[in-house]
Amino acid sequence: MDITLNNGVVMPALGLGVFQSAPEETTAAVESALATGYRHIDTAAAYGNEREVGEGIRNSGLDRSEIFIETKVWVSDFGYDETLHAWEKAVGKLGVEQLDLLILHQPAPDRFRKTIAAYKALEQLLADGRVRAIGVSNFMPHHLQELLASTDIVPAVNQIELHPYFTQPDVQAADAEHGILTQAWSPIGGITFYPGWGEQRKNVMEDPTTAGIAQAHGKSPAQVMIRWHLQQGRSAIPKSTNPARIAQNFDVFDFKLSSEEVAAIDSLDTGNRNGPDPDVAREERFALVIPEA
Ligand code: A2P
Repeated sequence: MDITLNNGVVMPALGLGVFQSAPEETTAAVESALATGYRHIDTAAAYGNEREVGEGIRNSGLDRSEIFIETKVWVSDFGYDETLHAWEKAVGKLGVEQLDLLILHQPAPDRFRKTIAAYKALEQLLADGRVRAIGVSNFMPHHLQELLASTDIVPAVNQIELHPYFTQPDVQAADAEHGILTQAWSPIGGITFYPGWGEQRKNVMEDPTTAGIAQAHGKSPAQVMIRWHLQQGRSAIPKSTNPARIAQNFDVFDFKLSSEEVAAIDSLDTGNRNGPDPDVAREERFALVIPEA
């Protein structure tokens, strides 16, 4: 299933995510996904596995043009020149000459001017043909407003935390208003059960509503959640390093949720974020230095 972005570039809606995929597992996960039929991989400079993603792509034997590569610029590389250089680092590690989609990993509330300068560098990279599309991640409506007021090109994508327990309808509406595609990170709610992200979170994978819908279709809760994203026109990038689950997450094109089922899943929204608040500066994390290629 393909989605046409606001600049005409076509992107496979469903991709493999590699957040928290250890570098030593990433190459195999990417190879496995590409063998399964995935043609979109989402990584980030801050994940520390761009090199392994590139290796997996090369090992697949597929032509570069068949694969949609998305990566992200980390906050420590925000600023005009810094972000131009971040592109060099990314393509060097991935071993490619052009990126399909390059996005800002999150707004930096303590240096929003540098965030804007970083986006202007993305615009330049786009003009130069070094990337095919540009976008943002974790931008709330007020960040989008500020960005749109001071830049020329509307982001193609806004990648945000989005799973049945946190659907951010206000952000989805703001994206839609501007023709920005909403892309879900943690689309099957990994952030609700990843260890080390705070205690007492409700695990969306164990939700009884989703489980009931899954049972009715002979599918798993993860497959139901992925289908829920796709039917609502979103892009989703579920992460797995397990070949059986990588395959399962792609096996979502032979069933359809009813509008009642979609609405039932929508109604699970708690309004509570599990990941980092994009309005809070995280000094230590922001200081992460992205190595040269
Ligand atoms: P694993 O890599 O061992 O498969 P998200 O992308 O929403 O953050 O979710 C990622 C988490 O969900 C990871 O812990 C991943 O573990 C797990 N996962 C991925 N696919 C499935 C699936 N089909 N069923 C259950 N867990 C899954």
